[in-house]
Amino acid sequence: MDSPLTLIICGASGDLTARKLVPSLYRLACKNRLPAEGRIVGVARSAFSDAAFRDKMAAAVREHAAREWLPERWEAFARRLFYVAADATKPEGLANLSAWLKEKEGGAGGRRLFYLAVAPDLYGGIVSSLAAAGLLREEGGWRRLVIEKPFGRDLASARTLNESIRSQLREEQIYRIDHYLGKDTVQNILVLRFANILFEPLWNSQYIDHVQITVAEKVALEGRGAYYDQAGVLRDMFQNHLLQLLTLVAMEPPARFAADPLRNEKVKVLDAIEPLDDAEAGRQLVRGQYAGYRGEKGVPPTSKTPTYAALRLGINNWRWRGVPFYLRSGKALKGRLSEVVVQFHCPPHLMFPVGDGGTMQCNRLALCIQPDEGIHVSFQSKVPDQEGMVMRPSDLEFHYGHAYKNLPIPESYERLLLDAMHGDASLFMRSDEIERAWAIMDPFIRASESASATAPEEYAVGSDGPAGANAFLDRDGRAWLSLCHH
Ligand SMILES: NC(=O)c1ccc[n+]([C@@H]2O[C@H](COP(=O)([O-])OP(=O)(O)OC[C@H]3O[C@@H](n4cnc5c(N)ncnc54)[C@H](OP(=O)(O)O)[C@@H]3O)[C@@H](O)[C@H]2O)c1
Repeated sequence: MDSPLTLIICGASGDLTARKLVPSLYRLACKNRLPAEGRIVGVARSAFSDAAFRDKMAAAVREHAAREWLPERWEAFARRLFYVAADATKPEGLANLSAWLKEKEGGAGGRRLFYLAVAPDLYGGIVSSLAAAGLLREEGGWRRLVIEKPFGRDLASARTLNESIRSQLREEQIYRIDHYLGKDTVQNILVLRFANILFEPLWNSQYIDHVQITVAEKVALEGRGAYYDQAGVLRDMFQNHLLQLLTLVAMEPPARFAADPLRNEKVKVLDAIEPLDDAEAGRQLVRGQYAGYRGEKGVPPTSKTPTYAALRLGINNWRWRGVPFYLRSGKALKGRLSEVVVQFHCPPHLMFPVGDGGTMQCNRLALCIQPDEGIHVSFQSKVPDQEGMVMRPSDLEFHYGHAYKNLPIPESYERLLLDAMHGDASLFMRSDEIERAWAIMDPFIRASESASATAPEEYAVGSDGPAGANAFLDRDGRAWLSLCHH
Protein backbone atom coordinates (compact mmCIF):
# COMPACT_ATOMS: atom_id res chain seq x y z
CA MET A 1 0.00 0.00 0.00
CA ASP A 2 1.18 3.54 -0.77
CA SER A 3 2.15 5.74 2.14
CA PRO A 4 -0.05 8.80 2.87
CA LEU A 5 0.10 11.60 0.30
CA THR A 6 0.20 15.23 1.40
CA LEU A 7 0.19 18.34 -0.76
CA ILE A 8 1.75 21.17 1.21
CA ILE A 9 0.95 24.60 -0.25
CA CYS A 10 3.30 27.32 1.01
CA GLY A 11 1.58 30.64 0.41
CA ALA A 12 -1.88 29.30 1.20
CA SER A 13 -3.33 32.65 2.23
CA GLY A 14 -2.39 34.19 -1.14
CA ASP A 15 -4.07 34.92 -4.43
CA LEU A 16 -2.83 31.95 -6.48
CA THR A 17 -4.03 29.44 -3.90
CA ALA A 18 -7.50 30.99 -3.78
CA ARG A 19 -7.92 31.64 -7.50
CA LYS A 20 -6.27 28.62 -9.06
CA LEU A 21 -4.86 25.93 -6.78
CA VAL A 22 -7.71 25.09 -4.43
CA PRO A 23 -10.46 25.49 -7.09
CA SER A 24 -8.43 23.14 -9.36
CA LEU A 25 -7.97 20.61 -6.56
CA TYR A 26 -11.70 20.80 -5.80
CA ARG A 27 -12.54 20.14 -9.47
CA LEU A 28 -10.14 17.20 -9.51
CA ALA A 29 -11.91 15.84 -6.43
CA CYS A 30 -15.27 16.27 -8.20
CA LYS A 31 -13.88 14.19 -11.09
CA ASN A 32 -12.59 11.55 -8.64
CA ARG A 33 -9.04 12.16 -9.83
CA LEU A 34 -7.41 13.16 -6.58
CA PRO A 35 -5.54 10.26 -5.04
CA ALA A 36 -7.76 8.68 -2.41
CA GLU A 37 -7.06 9.82 1.14
CA GLY A 38 -4.63 12.53 -0.04
CA ARG A 39 -4.47 15.53 2.30
CA ILE A 40 -3.88 19.17 1.46
CA VAL A 41 -2.31 21.45 4.02
CA GLY A 42 -2.00 25.19 3.57
CA VAL A 43 0.98 26.96 5.10
CA ALA A 44 1.50 30.71 5.54
CA ARG A 45 2.33 33.06 8.39
CA SER A 46 -1.24 34.37 8.86
CA ALA A 47 -3.18 32.71 11.64
CA PHE A 48 -6.10 30.53 10.52
CA SER A 49 -7.77 27.59 12.19
CA ASP A 50 -8.62 24.66 9.88
CA ALA A 51 -12.24 25.83 10.00
CA ALA A 52 -11.38 29.44 9.11
CA PHE A 53 -9.13 28.32 6.26
CA ARG A 54 -11.88 26.03 4.93
CA ASP A 55 -14.34 28.93 5.05
CA LYS A 56 -11.93 31.17 3.12
CA MET A 57 -11.36 28.46 0.52
CA ALA A 58 -15.09 27.71 0.27
CA ALA A 59 -15.67 31.33 -0.73
CA ALA A 60 -12.84 31.08 -3.29
CA VAL A 61 -14.22 27.88 -4.81
CA ARG A 62 -17.74 29.31 -4.97
CA GLU A 63 -16.30 32.19 -6.94
CA HIS A 64 -13.74 30.43 -9.14
CA ALA A 65 -15.33 27.00 -9.62
CA ALA A 66 -18.92 28.24 -9.49
CA ARG A 67 -20.19 25.75 -12.10
CA GLU A 68 -18.96 22.78 -10.09
CA TRP A 69 -20.04 24.08 -6.68
CA LEU A 70 -22.15 21.65 -4.68
CA PRO A 71 -22.25 21.95 -0.87
CA GLU A 72 -22.05 18.19 -0.27
CA ARG A 73 -19.11 17.83 -2.65
CA TRP A 74 -17.41 20.71 -0.91
CA GLU A 75 -17.97 19.14 2.51
CA ALA A 76 -16.32 15.91 1.36
CA PHE A 77 -13.39 17.82 -0.15
CA ALA A 78 -12.97 20.19 2.81
CA ARG A 79 -12.42 17.25 5.15
CA ARG A 80 -9.05 16.81 3.38
CA LEU A 81 -8.10 20.45 3.78
CA PHE A 82 -5.99 21.72 6.72
CA TYR A 83 -3.94 24.74 7.69
CA VAL A 84 -0.72 25.17 9.64
CA ALA A 85 0.60 28.66 10.43
CA ALA A 86 4.35 28.82 9.86
CA ASP A 87 7.09 31.06 8.57
CA ALA A 88 8.41 28.72 5.91
CA THR A 89 11.67 30.63 5.52
CA LYS A 90 12.76 29.62 9.05
CA PRO A 91 13.53 26.00 9.95
CA GLU A 92 12.26 26.63 13.50
CA GLY A 93 9.11 28.12 11.99
CA LEU A 94 8.48 24.78 10.27
CA ALA A 95 8.42 22.84 13.53
CA ASN A 96 4.60 23.11 13.55
CA LEU A 97 4.43 21.61 10.09
CA SER A 98 6.80 18.77 11.03
CA ALA A 99 4.68 17.94 14.04
CA TRP A 100 1.49 18.09 11.98
CA LEU A 101 2.91 15.79 9.29
CA LYS A 102 4.17 13.32 11.88
CA GLU A 103 0.75 13.12 13.45
CA LYS A 104 -1.21 12.81 10.19
CA GLU A 105 1.22 10.43 8.52
CA GLY A 106 1.18 8.25 11.58
CA GLY A 107 4.92 8.41 12.18
CA ALA A 108 5.97 6.22 9.25
CA GLY A 109 6.47 9.17 6.89
CA GLY A 110 4.67 9.61 3.60
CA ARG A 111 4.73 11.09 0.13
CA ARG A 112 5.00 14.87 0.16
CA LEU A 113 4.49 17.36 -2.62
CA PHE A 114 5.55 20.89 -1.66
CA TYR A 115 4.04 23.68 -3.75
CA LEU A 116 5.71 27.07 -3.45
CA ALA A 117 3.00 29.66 -4.12
CA VAL A 118 5.01 32.48 -2.60
CA ALA A 119 6.94 35.48 -3.89
CA PRO A 120 9.88 34.33 -6.04
CA ASP A 121 12.53 35.79 -3.72
CA LEU A 122 11.42 33.26 -1.08
CA TYR A 123 11.90 30.10 -3.20
CA GLY A 124 15.55 29.49 -2.30
CA GLY A 125 15.13 30.30 1.40
CA ILE A 126 12.08 28.08 1.80
CA VAL A 127 13.79 25.10 0.14
CA SER A 128 16.80 25.54 2.47
CA SER A 129 14.57 25.69 5.56
CA LEU A 130 12.51 22.70 4.43
CA ALA A 131 15.80 20.81 4.13
CA ALA A 132 17.14 22.11 7.44
CA ALA A 133 13.90 21.08 9.15
CA GLY A 134 14.40 17.55 7.75
CA LEU A 135 11.19 17.74 5.71
CA LEU A 136 12.88 16.85 2.41
CA ARG A 137 14.41 13.57 3.62
CA GLU A 138 12.71 10.81 1.68
CA GLU A 139 11.46 8.83 4.65
CA GLY A 140 8.39 6.74 3.98
CA GLY A 141 7.90 8.17 0.48
CA TRP A 142 9.08 10.62 -2.14
CA ARG A 143 9.53 14.39 -1.82
CA ARG A 144 8.72 16.66 -4.75
CA LEU A 145 8.72 20.41 -5.17
CA VAL A 146 6.58 22.53 -7.49
CA ILE A 147 7.88 26.04 -8.13
CA GLU A 148 5.84 28.85 -9.61
CA LYS A 149 7.01 31.31 -12.20
CA PRO A 150 8.96 33.52 -12.46
CA PHE A 151 12.04 31.33 -12.13
CA GLY A 152 14.82 33.92 -11.96
CA ARG A 153 14.93 37.29 -13.69
CA ASP A 154 17.88 36.55 -15.98
CA LEU A 155 20.29 33.72 -16.70
CA ALA A 156 22.56 34.47 -13.74
CA SER A 157 19.75 34.52 -11.15
CA ALA A 158 18.07 31.45 -12.66
CA ARG A 159 21.39 29.60 -12.42
CA THR A 160 21.89 30.62 -8.81
CA LEU A 161 18.35 29.52 -7.97
CA ASN A 162 18.82 26.19 -9.76
CA GLU A 163 22.06 25.61 -7.88
CA SER A 164 20.50 26.49 -4.56
CA ILE A 165 17.49 24.20 -5.07
CA ARG A 166 19.56 21.39 -6.53
CA SER A 167 21.82 21.43 -3.51
CA GLN A 168 18.79 20.05 -1.63
CA LEU A 169 16.83 18.12 -4.27
CA ARG A 170 17.55 16.00 -7.35
CA GLU A 171 16.44 17.39 -10.71
CA GLU A 172 13.70 14.78 -11.04
CA GLN A 173 12.15 16.01 -7.78
CA ILE A 174 11.76 19.57 -9.12
CA TYR A 175 8.67 20.64 -11.08
CA ARG A 176 9.02 24.16 -12.53
CA ILE A 177 5.65 25.44 -13.67
CA ASP A 178 4.79 27.13 -16.91
CA HIS A 179 1.01 26.94 -16.76
CA TYR A 180 0.81 27.27 -20.57
CA LEU A 181 2.02 23.69 -20.83
CA GLY A 182 -0.99 22.56 -18.81
CA LYS A 183 -3.38 23.83 -21.49
CA ASP A 184 -5.01 21.15 -23.64
CA THR A 185 -4.64 23.33 -26.72
CA VAL A 186 -0.90 23.65 -26.12
CA GLN A 187 -0.54 19.88 -25.73
CA ASN A 188 -2.63 19.57 -28.87
CA ILE A 189 0.25 21.13 -30.82
CA LEU A 190 2.09 17.86 -30.19
CA VAL A 191 -0.92 15.77 -31.12
CA LEU A 192 -1.52 17.71 -34.32
CA ARG A 193 2.10 17.38 -35.36
CA PHE A 194 2.96 13.89 -34.19
CA ALA A 195 -0.31 11.92 -34.28
CA ASN A 196 -1.07 12.94 -37.88
CA ILE A 197 0.91 12.38 -41.05
CA LEU A 198 -0.70 15.27 -42.85
CA PHE A 199 1.35 18.19 -41.58
CA GLU A 200 4.75 16.83 -40.61
CA PRO A 201 6.14 16.33 -44.15
CA LEU A 202 5.50 20.04 -44.79
CA TRP A 203 6.79 21.20 -41.40
CA ASN A 204 10.11 22.69 -42.48
CA SER A 205 11.79 25.54 -44.32
CA GLN A 206 11.00 24.03 -47.70
CA TYR A 207 7.27 24.61 -47.21
CA ILE A 208 7.01 27.13 -44.39
CA ASP A 209 7.71 30.81 -44.98
CA HIS A 210 7.53 31.98 -41.38
CA VAL A 211 5.78 31.40 -38.05
CA GLN A 212 4.02 33.94 -35.84
CA ILE A 213 3.29 33.45 -32.16
CA THR A 214 0.94 35.87 -30.41
CA VAL A 215 -0.06 36.00 -26.77
CA ALA A 216 -2.25 39.08 -26.37
CA GLU A 217 -3.85 40.14 -23.11
CA LYS A 218 -6.81 42.45 -22.75
CA VAL A 219 -6.17 42.99 -19.06
CA ALA A 220 -3.66 45.53 -17.81
CA LEU A 221 -1.91 45.27 -14.45
CA GLU A 222 -4.70 43.94 -12.22
CA GLY A 223 -3.08 45.50 -9.16
CA ARG A 224 0.35 43.93 -9.80
CA GLY A 225 2.04 47.19 -10.84
CA ALA A 226 5.04 47.01 -8.49
CA TYR A 227 5.87 43.44 -9.56
CA TYR A 228 5.20 44.03 -13.24
CA ASP A 229 7.29 47.16 -13.51
CA GLN A 230 10.34 45.19 -12.34
CA ALA A 231 9.58 42.41 -14.83
CA GLY A 232 8.13 43.83 -18.05
CA VAL A 233 6.67 41.79 -20.87
CA LEU A 234 9.93 40.12 -21.92
CA ARG A 235 10.38 38.42 -18.56
CA ASP A 236 6.68 38.00 -17.82
CA MET A 237 5.64 36.35 -21.11
CA PHE A 238 8.47 35.73 -23.57
CA GLN A 239 11.03 33.82 -21.51
CA ASN A 240 8.35 31.31 -20.54
CA HIS A 241 5.05 31.09 -22.44
CA LEU A 242 6.14 32.31 -25.88
CA LEU A 243 9.36 30.31 -25.95
CA GLN A 244 7.48 27.25 -24.73
CA LEU A 245 5.04 27.57 -27.63
CA LEU A 246 7.96 28.02 -30.00
CA THR A 247 9.70 24.85 -28.80
CA LEU A 248 6.55 22.76 -29.27
CA VAL A 249 6.04 24.12 -32.79
CA ALA A 250 9.68 23.65 -33.78
CA MET A 251 10.89 20.50 -31.97
CA GLU A 252 11.74 17.17 -33.59
CA PRO A 253 9.44 14.24 -32.74
CA PRO A 254 10.51 12.60 -29.48
CA ALA A 255 10.48 8.81 -29.45
CA ARG A 256 8.18 8.68 -26.43
CA PHE A 257 5.86 11.07 -24.65
CA ALA A 258 7.88 11.08 -21.45
CA ALA A 259 9.62 13.80 -19.52
CA ASP A 260 13.19 13.38 -20.66
CA PRO A 261 12.74 12.52 -24.36
CA LEU A 262 10.31 15.43 -24.69
CA ARG A 263 12.43 17.93 -22.82
CA ASN A 264 15.60 16.85 -24.63
CA GLU A 265 13.97 17.82 -27.93
CA LYS A 266 12.74 21.14 -26.54
CA VAL A 267 16.22 21.99 -25.28
CA LYS A 268 17.67 21.17 -28.72
CA VAL A 269 15.40 23.79 -30.28
CA LEU A 270 16.47 26.38 -27.72
CA ASP A 271 20.10 25.37 -28.32
CA ALA A 272 19.66 26.07 -32.01
CA ILE A 273 18.63 29.67 -31.30
CA GLU A 274 21.89 31.56 -31.19
CA PRO A 275 21.70 34.27 -28.50
CA LEU A 276 22.17 37.62 -30.25
CA ASP A 277 24.58 40.31 -29.17
CA ASP A 278 22.82 43.17 -27.42
CA ALA A 279 23.01 45.58 -30.37
CA GLU A 280 21.53 43.02 -32.76
CA ALA A 281 18.85 42.07 -30.20
CA GLY A 282 17.91 45.77 -30.07
CA ARG A 283 17.44 45.75 -33.86
CA GLN A 284 15.25 42.62 -33.74
CA LEU A 285 12.95 44.03 -31.06
CA VAL A 286 10.04 46.46 -30.90
CA ARG A 287 8.84 47.69 -27.53
CA GLY A 288 5.61 49.40 -26.56
CA GLN A 289 3.97 50.75 -23.42
CA TYR A 290 0.25 51.35 -23.14
CA ALA A 291 -0.95 54.91 -22.61
CA GLY A 292 -1.56 55.54 -18.92
CA TYR A 293 0.82 52.79 -17.72
CA ARG A 294 3.03 55.31 -15.90
CA GLY A 295 0.03 56.50 -13.89
CA GLU A 296 -0.76 52.99 -12.60
CA LYS A 297 -0.35 52.16 -8.91
CA GLY A 298 3.15 50.89 -8.16
CA VAL A 299 4.62 52.19 -11.44
CA PRO A 300 7.14 55.07 -11.35
CA PRO A 301 6.14 58.03 -13.56
CA THR A 302 9.41 57.70 -15.51
CA SER A 303 9.14 53.94 -16.14
CA LYS A 304 10.47 52.62 -19.46
CA THR A 305 9.20 49.09 -18.79
CA PRO A 306 7.70 47.60 -21.96
CA THR A 307 4.16 46.25 -21.67
CA TYR A 308 4.33 45.10 -25.31
CA ALA A 309 7.11 43.56 -27.35
CA ALA A 310 7.56 41.97 -30.74
CA LEU A 311 10.75 40.24 -31.80
CA ARG A 312 12.24 37.95 -34.39
CA LEU A 313 14.16 34.74 -33.72
CA GLY A 314 15.89 32.33 -36.05
CA ILE A 315 16.46 28.63 -35.41
CA ASN A 316 19.75 27.44 -36.85
CA ASN A 317 19.11 23.82 -37.72
CA TRP A 318 18.29 21.83 -40.86
CA ARG A 319 14.56 22.06 -40.43
CA TRP A 320 14.25 25.78 -39.74
CA ARG A 321 17.25 27.58 -41.18
CA GLY A 322 15.96 30.78 -42.87
CA VAL A 323 12.43 30.64 -41.35
CA PRO A 324 11.80 33.64 -39.09
CA PHE A 325 9.77 33.13 -35.94
CA TYR A 326 7.99 36.36 -35.00
CA LEU A 327 6.82 36.57 -31.40
CA ARG A 328 4.59 39.27 -29.92
CA SER A 329 2.82 39.82 -26.65
CA GLY A 330 1.33 42.72 -24.79
CA LYS A 331 -1.10 43.96 -22.18
CA ALA A 332 -4.15 46.23 -22.47
CA LEU A 333 -4.67 45.16 -26.09
CA LYS A 334 -7.86 44.85 -28.13
CA GLY A 335 -8.59 41.31 -27.01
CA ARG A 336 -7.33 38.21 -25.25
CA LEU A 337 -5.84 35.89 -27.81
CA SER A 338 -3.13 33.23 -27.95
CA GLU A 339 -2.42 31.90 -31.39
CA VAL A 340 0.32 30.36 -33.53
CA VAL A 341 0.10 31.05 -37.26
CA VAL A 342 2.15 28.98 -39.67
CA GLN A 343 2.44 30.71 -43.05
CA PHE A 344 3.25 28.26 -45.84
CA HIS A 345 5.02 29.17 -49.06
CA CYS A 346 2.97 29.78 -52.18
CA PRO A 347 2.79 27.01 -54.78
CA PRO A 348 5.85 27.16 -57.04
CA HIS A 349 3.69 27.77 -60.10
CA LEU A 350 0.05 28.83 -60.47
CA MET A 351 -1.48 27.40 -63.61
CA PHE A 352 -4.61 29.58 -63.53
CA PRO A 353 -5.10 33.29 -63.06
CA VAL A 354 -6.66 34.41 -59.78
CA GLY A 355 -9.66 35.71 -61.68
CA ASP A 356 -11.68 38.90 -61.45
CA GLY A 357 -12.70 39.53 -57.83
CA GLY A 358 -10.61 36.59 -56.63
CA THR A 359 -7.76 36.53 -54.12
CA MET A 360 -4.68 34.36 -53.95
CA GLN A 361 -3.52 33.69 -50.42
CA CYS A 362 -0.87 31.09 -49.66
CA ASN A 363 -1.88 28.40 -47.15
CA ARG A 364 -2.00 29.20 -43.46
CA LEU A 365 -2.52 27.06 -40.43
CA ALA A 366 -3.53 28.60 -37.13
CA LEU A 367 -3.26 26.85 -33.79
CA CYS A 368 -5.77 28.64 -31.61
CA ILE A 369 -4.72 28.32 -27.98
CA GLN A 370 -7.35 30.60 -26.40
CA PRO A 371 -10.09 31.75 -26.26
CA ASP A 372 -11.23 30.16 -29.56
CA GLU A 373 -9.69 26.78 -28.80
CA GLY A 374 -9.11 24.88 -32.01
CA ILE A 375 -7.39 24.86 -35.39
CA HIS A 376 -8.01 26.82 -38.58
CA VAL A 377 -6.60 25.96 -41.99
CA SER A 378 -6.85 28.53 -44.70
CA PHE A 379 -6.72 27.18 -48.26
CA GLN A 380 -7.69 28.30 -51.75
CA SER A 381 -11.07 27.31 -53.14
CA LYS A 382 -12.85 27.88 -56.42
CA VAL A 383 -15.64 30.41 -56.21
CA PRO A 384 -18.68 28.66 -57.78
CA ASP A 385 -20.58 29.81 -60.81
CA GLN A 386 -18.16 32.41 -62.14
CA GLU A 387 -16.98 33.10 -65.61
CA GLY A 388 -13.65 31.32 -65.69
CA MET A 389 -11.64 30.17 -62.69
CA VAL A 390 -11.96 32.53 -59.73
CA MET A 391 -10.27 31.63 -56.42
CA ARG A 392 -10.60 32.82 -52.88
CA PRO A 393 -9.28 31.66 -49.50
CA SER A 394 -11.62 29.52 -47.38
CA ASP A 395 -11.26 28.21 -43.85
CA LEU A 396 -11.45 24.71 -42.45
CA GLU A 397 -12.15 25.09 -38.76
CA PHE A 398 -12.00 22.76 -35.81
CA HIS A 399 -13.34 24.04 -32.50
CA TYR A 400 -13.03 22.19 -29.23
CA GLY A 401 -16.31 23.76 -28.18
CA HIS A 402 -18.11 21.94 -31.04
CA ALA A 403 -16.13 18.75 -31.27
CA TYR A 404 -16.12 18.06 -27.53
CA LYS A 405 -19.32 19.76 -26.39
CA ASN A 406 -19.56 17.89 -23.11
CA LEU A 407 -15.89 18.11 -22.27
CA PRO A 408 -15.05 21.73 -21.50
CA ILE A 409 -11.37 22.62 -21.51
CA PRO A 410 -10.18 22.44 -17.90
CA GLU A 411 -8.05 24.89 -15.96
CA SER A 412 -4.40 24.10 -16.74
CA TYR A 413 -3.49 23.81 -13.04
CA GLU A 414 -5.67 20.70 -12.77
CA ARG A 415 -3.47 18.78 -15.14
CA LEU A 416 -0.24 20.12 -13.68
CA LEU A 417 -1.14 19.40 -10.06
CA LEU A 418 -2.15 15.87 -10.96
CA ASP A 419 0.98 15.24 -13.03
CA ALA A 420 3.19 16.41 -10.17
CA MET A 421 1.35 14.04 -7.80
CA HIS A 422 1.83 11.21 -10.30
CA GLY A 423 5.50 12.05 -10.85
CA ASP A 424 5.19 12.98 -14.51
CA ALA A 425 7.43 15.97 -15.26
CA SER A 426 6.75 16.08 -19.03
CA LEU A 427 4.85 19.36 -18.78
CA PHE A 428 7.32 21.05 -16.44
CA MET A 429 10.55 22.81 -17.28
CA ARG A 430 13.93 21.27 -16.66
CA SER A 431 16.80 23.39 -15.33
CA ASP A 432 18.70 23.43 -18.64
CA GLU A 433 15.54 24.46 -20.50
CA ILE A 434 14.91 27.41 -18.17
CA GLU A 435 18.52 28.54 -18.38
CA ARG A 436 18.61 28.26 -22.15
CA ALA A 437 15.42 30.31 -22.42
CA TRP A 438 16.98 33.04 -20.28
CA ALA A 439 20.15 32.98 -22.38
CA ILE A 440 17.99 33.73 -25.44
CA MET A 441 16.00 36.49 -23.75
CA ASP A 442 18.78 38.22 -21.81
CA PRO A 443 20.17 40.21 -24.79
CA PHE A 444 16.65 41.47 -25.60
CA ILE A 445 16.13 42.42 -21.96
CA ARG A 446 19.49 44.18 -21.79
CA ALA A 447 18.76 46.00 -25.04
CA SER A 448 15.44 47.09 -23.59
CA GLU A 449 16.88 48.20 -20.24
CA SER A 450 20.17 49.78 -21.30
CA ALA A 451 20.67 53.41 -20.32
CA SER A 452 20.75 54.39 -24.00
CA ALA A 453 17.48 52.60 -24.85
CA THR A 454 14.76 54.91 -26.12
CA ALA A 455 11.43 54.95 -24.30
CA PRO A 456 9.00 52.29 -25.57
CA GLU A 457 6.48 53.50 -28.13
CA GLU A 458 3.14 54.42 -26.60
CA TYR A 459 0.04 52.58 -27.81
CA ALA A 460 -3.61 53.13 -27.07
CA VAL A 461 -5.40 50.88 -24.59
CA GLY A 462 -7.62 48.49 -26.55
CA SER A 463 -5.51 48.74 -29.72
CA ASP A 464 -3.40 46.15 -31.56
CA GLY A 465 -0.20 47.53 -30.02
CA PRO A 466 2.35 50.07 -31.24
CA ALA A 467 2.54 51.04 -34.90
CA GLY A 468 6.23 50.12 -34.79
CA ALA A 469 5.27 46.44 -34.55
CA ASN A 470 3.56 46.66 -37.94
CA ALA A 471 6.50 48.51 -39.47
CA PHE A 472 8.81 45.80 -38.05
CA LEU A 473 7.10 43.08 -40.12
CA ASP A 474 6.54 45.40 -43.02
CA ARG A 475 10.31 45.69 -43.38
CA ASP A 476 10.38 41.93 -44.04
CA GLY A 477 7.50 42.25 -46.52
CA ARG A 478 5.10 40.56 -44.09
CA ALA A 479 2.18 41.51 -41.85
CA TRP A 480 0.78 40.24 -38.57
CA LEU A 481 -1.85 37.58 -39.11
CA SER A 482 -4.74 36.31 -37.06
CA LEU A 483 -7.07 33.52 -38.11
CA CYS A 484 -8.50 32.51 -34.75
CA HIS A 485 -11.71 34.14 -33.56
CA HIS A 486 -11.31 36.75 -30.85
N1 LIG B 1 -1.65 35.03 -8.58
C1 LIG B 1 -1.52 34.50 -9.78
O1 LIG B 1 -2.46 34.41 -10.57
C2 LIG B 1 -0.19 33.96 -10.22
C3 LIG B 1 -0.05 33.55 -11.54
C4 LIG B 1 1.17 33.01 -11.97
C5 LIG B 1 2.20 32.90 -11.06
N2 LIG B 1 2.05 33.32 -9.77
C6 LIG B 1 3.17 33.17 -8.84
O2 LIG B 1 2.74 32.47 -7.68
C7 LIG B 1 3.40 32.95 -6.54
C8 LIG B 1 2.38 33.41 -5.52
O3 LIG B 1 1.64 34.47 -6.06
P1 LIG B 1 0.36 35.11 -5.35
O4 LIG B 1 -0.24 36.03 -6.33
O5 LIG B 1 -0.49 34.07 -4.72
O6 LIG B 1 1.08 35.98 -4.19
P2 LIG B 1 0.43 36.56 -2.86
O7 LIG B 1 -1.04 36.74 -3.01
O8 LIG B 1 1.26 37.73 -2.46
O9 LIG B 1 0.65 35.40 -1.81
C9 LIG B 1 1.90 35.11 -1.24
C10 LIG B 1 1.71 34.12 -0.11
O10 LIG B 1 2.97 33.85 0.49
C11 LIG B 1 2.78 33.80 1.89
N3 LIG B 1 4.06 34.04 2.56
C12 LIG B 1 4.81 35.16 2.49
N4 LIG B 1 5.92 35.00 3.26
C13 LIG B 1 5.84 33.76 3.79
C14 LIG B 1 6.67 33.01 4.66
N5 LIG B 1 7.82 33.52 5.13
N6 LIG B 1 6.29 31.76 5.02
C15 LIG B 1 5.12 31.23 4.55
N7 LIG B 1 4.30 31.91 3.71
C16 LIG B 1 4.65 33.14 3.35
C17 LIG B 1 1.74 34.87 2.15
O11 LIG B 1 1.03 34.67 3.33
P3 LIG B 1 1.38 35.30 4.76
O12 LIG B 1 1.61 36.76 4.55
O13 LIG B 1 0.17 34.96 5.54
O14 LIG B 1 2.59 34.58 5.24
C18 LIG B 1 0.79 34.59 0.98
O15 LIG B 1 -0.06 33.51 1.33
C19 LIG B 1 4.33 34.06 -7.03
O16 LIG B 1 5.60 33.52 -7.28
C20 LIG B 1 3.71 34.49 -8.34
O17 LIG B 1 4.66 35.02 -9.23
C21 LIG B 1 0.87 33.85 -9.35
